[in-house]
Amino acid sequence: MSTPKETPLMEKIVSLCKRRGFIFQSSEIYGGINGFWDYGPLGAELKRNVKDLWWRSMTRMREDVVGLDATIIMHPNIWKASGHVDTFTDPMLDCKTCKGRFRADQINEIPCPQKPSKCVNQCEGEKTEPRPFNLMFTTHVGPIADDDNVAYLRPETAQAIFAQFKNVVDSSRVKIPFGIAQVGKAFRNEVTPRNFTFRSREFEQMELEFFIKPDEVVHKQHGGVAQLGVDGHPGEPQPNWGWQLWHKYWVEERIRFYEGIGLPRTSLAEYWQSKEELAHYAKACVDILYKFPFGTQELEGIAARGDFDLAQHQKHSGKSQEYFDQEAATKYVPHVIEPSAGADRLVLALLCEAFFEEQTTDEKGKTETRTVLRFHPRIAPVKVGIFPLLKNKPELVAKAREVFETLRPSMNVFYDEGGSIGKRYARQDEAGTPFGVTIDFDTLGENGPDLKETVTLRHRDTQAQERVPISKLLGRILPLVS
Ligand code: GAP
Repeated sequence: MSTPKETPLMEKIVSLCKRRGFIFQSSEIYGGINGFWDYGPLGAELKRNVKDLWWRSMTRMREDVVGLDATIIMHPNIWKASGHVDTFTDPMLDCKTCKGRFRADQINEIPCPQKPSKCVNQCEGEKTEPRPFNLMFTTHVGPIADDDNVAYLRPETAQAIFAQFKNVVDSSRVKIPFGIAQVGKAFRNEVTPRNFTFRSREFEQMELEFFIKPDEVVHKQHGGVAQLGVDGHPGEPQPNWGWQLWHKYWVEERIRFYEGIGLPRTSLAEYWQSKEELAHYAKACVDILYKFPFGTQELEGIAARGDFDLAQHQKHSGKSQEYFDQEAATKYVPHVIEPSAGADRLVLALLCEAFFEEQTTDEKGKTETRTVLRFHPRIAPVKVGIFPLLKNKPELVAKAREVFETLRPSMNVFYDEGGSIGKRYARQDEAGTPFGVTIDFDTLGENGPDLKETVTLRHRDTQAQERVPISKLLGRILPLVS
C-alpha cells in the first residue's frame, strides 16, 4: 500500500468542503479539536444518502438481514470478552526532541508537527521505546468517577450485534444463514488522526455480522462443502456453501455496492491479508481499498471471524450462544462473515472520486476554472436545482415554486433565484447537483403554445439541455436518483 501524503488535490478538496458546507473542523471557533469533524448542510445530506443506501441494500432489499440500533455505551465486560480491553492497542513512542507522540509503525510516514528538521521522523531525535496505548475512550457511568464504574465509548458497532444475537434469534423469524446490520458511531482515540476525515477519533461504521453454519455442519448436511469456483461473483447463495464461498460472496456484493454509487472497480483494489497479518481469530480478511489522492487505503474490511466473538461472549457471560438448527438437527455456535465499512471514509472517497476541474472560456474570452462534483445522482446531496430565469417576474417565480413543490416530496431539491443563470448553474455544479431545471418565458407560453408548460432540464456532467414537459419531470428524474 502506498504511503499517504498531503497532496495539492486533497488541499483543493478540503477547501471546497469547507467553502461549500460539506465538512467543517469540529469546534473551529475554539481552535478546533484534532480528529473530529462536523458535516455541514451539504455534507449531512451526502452522508445520510450514503448510510440510507447502505441500509437499503443490506437490509430492506434482502430477506436474510435484519437491523439493530444499539447503545454506544455498553457493559464494560463486552470489551473484556471481545479482547478490546487487553489488546486494542497501538504501540506508541515519544520523540524526546519534539515531544510528539507517534504510532511506532508510522514513525517514518508522519511529518513532525513541530520541529521537522530535528525530529525523530527524520531519524535524528531520540525516541522512547514503544509502549502500548489503548485506543478506547473511557468514561464513568453514574456520579462517582472511580475504577468500579469505568465504561467505554464503543470502538466498533459490531460487538452490540454479537451481544444481542440471542435476542434477535428469539424475537425474529430468522434462520441461519442470516445477518444483523447496524449503522452507528464508533470512537477510537487514534494516536495520529490524519488525512482529513480518513482517520478520525469519532466516526460512523456500517457493519454487518452475517451468521453462517460451521463447515462441519454443512458437510454433514450436504455430504460436502462447495468449493470456490472461478473468480468473480459466486452467484446466488447455496445451502452447501461454507465460509470461503460466503466470504467471497460478500466481497463481491460490497464491490457491486460501491460501483452502484459511483466508485468504479478501477478506483478500488482488493487486499487479501496474508496469514501473518490476520488477527488471531480471523480465517481470512479482505480489505477493499480506494485510490485516495494520498494513497491507496482501506475503505472496508471483510473478515471471516469464525465463531470467535459468540464463543467469547458465551464464555464471559455464562449464557449459551448456541443456535438450534432444525434442518441440520444440531446445535452450534454460528460462524461469522463481517463486512465492516466506514461511512466517513466512504463519503471522503465519493468526494475525491467526484472532484473535477476544467477550464472554460466565456463569450468575452475570459478563462475560468469550473469545479464540478460529479456525484452519482443516487448519493448527490441535492438532486435538482430549480431556477426561475428572472426573479423580478412574478409569473416565472410562481411557476418555478410550483415545479419546486411538485418535486420536493420525492427528493431533495434546491430553489435558487439569485444571480445570473450561469452563476446559479456553477453553484450547483460545485455542490454536485446532477440536474438543473430552468423556468423561462417558453414555460409560460409567451413564445407560442408548443413549449408552454415545459422546462429546460440541464445535465451537470455533459451540460446538455433538453426540453421536458412539467407533467413528465418527476417521472423522468426519479428513476435516475433512486
Ligand atoms: N468490526 C471490525 C472493525 O471495526 P476495522 O477495520 O477496525 O474493523 C472497519 O474498521 C472500518 O471502519 C474501516 O474499514 C474504516 O472504514 C472504518 N474506520 C476504522 N477506523 C476509523 C477511523 N479512525 N476513522 C474513520 N474510519 C474508520
